[in-house]
Amino acid sequence: MKKIKLIGPFKQLLPMTGLPLRGALQDEELLIIEDGGVLVEDNVIYATGRFTDLMSQAKTLNAELVTLTGDVVCLPGFIDTHTHICFGGSRANDYAMRNAGKSYLEIAKAGGGIWDTVTQTRKASKEQLTTGIVARANRHLRHGVTTIEVKSGYGLSVDEELKMLRAIKTADKNIPASLIPTCLAAHMFPKDYNGTAEEYLSEIATSLFPKLKEEQLTNRVDAFIEESAFSQEVIRPYFEKAVSMGFDITVHADQFSTGGSEIAVEIGAISADHLEASTEKEINLLASSNVIATALPGASMGLGCNYTPGRKILDAGGTLAIASDWNPGSAPMGNLLMQATVFGTFEKLTNLEILAGITTRAAAALKLTDRGSLEVGHLADLTIFPTHDYKEILYQQGMLIPSMVWKEGDLVFNGQKA
Ligand code: NIG
Ligand code: FE
Repeated sequence: MKKIKLIGPFKQLLPMTGLPLRGALQDEELLIIEDGGVLVEDNVIYATGRFTDLMSQAKTLNAELVTLTGDVVCLPGFIDTHTHICFGGSRANDYAMRNAGKSYLEIAKAGGGIWDTVTQTRKASKEQLTTGIVARANRHLRHGVTTIEVKSGYGLSVDEELKMLRAIKTADKNIPASLIPTCLAAHMFPKDYNGTAEEYLSEIATSLFPKLKEEQLTNRVDAFIEESAFSQEVIRPYFEKAVSMGFDITVHADQFSTGGSEIAVEIGAISADHLEASTEKEINLLASSNVIATALPGASMGLGCNYTPGRKILDAGGTLAIASDWNPGSAPMGNLLMQATVFGTFEKLTNLEILAGITTRAAAALKLTDRGSLEVGHLADLTIFPTHDYKEILYQQGMLIPSMVWKEGDLVFNGQKA
């Protein structure tokens, strides 16, 4: 027997439907249903519309009524397309050293940087990693994030990367949010590897990739293209191998120096993330491709660097997702809405461009066709804020938090005051 329920009324319902994937968006294009409601059938959206209209449908369908009190605004559950929330330890020392003026190299020499997290993550058991992911994902959920991409990349050996991806899979089974795993074995060249970068990548491709398929751990492969990590030339055969095995590609691109977005376009990656160093050339290249540009303002805030040129990317006709990059080093804050709205202030993004970046366009960046907007048949992932006007959600820059979150038709967070 199908279970049908009517949720509402919402002072405003923002289904985020009918929006173009590319280019600039004006707030006037946003569909706002006043006094709206959502009919949910099991885990998916059955209908959206005016609450009073849905009421009569609900009666015929014998639906359960979930009546909300006070002024609330409903949006699709947010999607964070880029995180590293599987890790051991902390890098609070890096943060203090950075702010005291120490360089990347000095921090690495003092035992910090990505390698520090690799050491701490290798020391952690799979269970300890799982516990960390669950806690971070549940915090994200309370902030309205119902789908979270999670990368490996602090293992940097076949076995340690497997441990991370298995922890992500276990965490996914134990939390309401959906986790989308990505293999980032090409995060940096492991200091303890006995061989060249080419040999390391080739070992990962031959020994780890088949295991990822076998255990269904992920269908996504990422790499960090940077002077301190991997060059375009070294990564090309690695990506080609991944593509030939059916993996989707995403790239850490143009964070400090350019080159990453070029290989992303060449290889047909789904997204190129970071782009703080992108120039007009890279902006135009991305905008004329199908690669989704992804801004990671949390890394700009964590490191004190430039923001991704989001305005220019949109004006050039590109598509822009916004993600948190939550990780222990460059982006420890992990507050997607706060970062997206502050980024919007600096980059002069419209409210709709910000919201699309963490809903519809984020879904596209993960190739997810069943969420991101409240279309009929999409997952019933709802984020509900205690306000009369959606503009307050952006204006309060992350300090207005959801009163309710629904995931696939289940109420998974209820912070409503009685
Ligand atoms: O996306 N840029 C490379 N990787 C991460 C940082 C990881 C870390 O510092 O631990 C990022 O910013
Ligand atoms: Fe990252």
